[in-house]
Amino acid sequence: MTQRRPMVAGNWKMNGDAKLAKALFVEFNTTLSGHSPEVVLCPPATYLESVKHEFEQSALSFKQSVIKLGAQSVSEHDVGAYTGEISASMLKDLGCQYVIIGHSERRSLYGETSHTIAEKFAAAKKQNLTPILCIGESSSEREANKTFKVIGDELNTIIERNGINAFDNAVIAYEPLWAIGSGNSATPEQAQEVHAFIRKRLLEVSPLVGENIRILYGGSVTPSNAADLFAQPDVDGGLIGGVSLKPTDFLSLCTIA
Ligand code: G3P
Repeated sequence: MTQRRPMVAGNWKMNGDAKLAKALFVEFNTTLSGHSPEVVLCPPATYLESVKHEFEQSALSFKQSVIKLGAQSVSEHDVGAYTGEISASMLKDLGCQYVIIGHSERRSLYGETSHTIAEKFAAAKKQNLTPILCIGESSSEREANKTFKVIGDELNTIIERNGINAFDNAVIAYEPLWAIGSGNSATPEQAQEVHAFIRKRLLEVSPLVGENIRILYGGSVTPSNAADLFAQPDVDGGLIGGVSLKPTDFLSLCTIA
């Protein structure tokens, strides 16, 4: 059976600044050991350079195998007249290795459709950026017993556009909408149930992809609930919002994972 390397990714959303980048690395330098999970930092695009700078200054000898840079979104287009957009090759230039795609805030606040998300996934793959694909159901969908249908459909759209092999180098984040920023995390059992469903769905199409893919949980993860969530067999770490802005707490999530 494959040993999947745990991952903790911090999605700052539209928060933080260069000082936060510095504070995080002060914490990394003192706390993080070489045996840590893979840590991905996803600041706003304006602070990618600051995080990269702190990373380069950092004393961590093992840093390149541990800490990676990620973006919060990417354009589905390669180049051209798309005011305000940032392309995958530009993110690559900035040193990004990961990009979050399909976050529910992008879907609900900025009208990103399944089609757009599948195109963004393709754009990221084309530049060898690893997509962190966010999927998850709303509370009304859960109450109507539509969780698996919603998750299945979200996966299908990506598979239909990109093929199953596109998941070879990708990460999935299960983020139930009702758990994001609410202080009301999914229980470990609820998370495991959906993660197992996602893995099974991928295993049916490709045993290799299903076995190897990392599935993160996101939604109100804190140092007090992380151990139980991360201990679930199909939970390979977390995509962290609020707590990624608190260096000490974020580092304790990395230690737990
Ligand atoms: O992408 C991370 C996320 O949406 C979870 O946010 O603040 O509930 O940890 P939060």
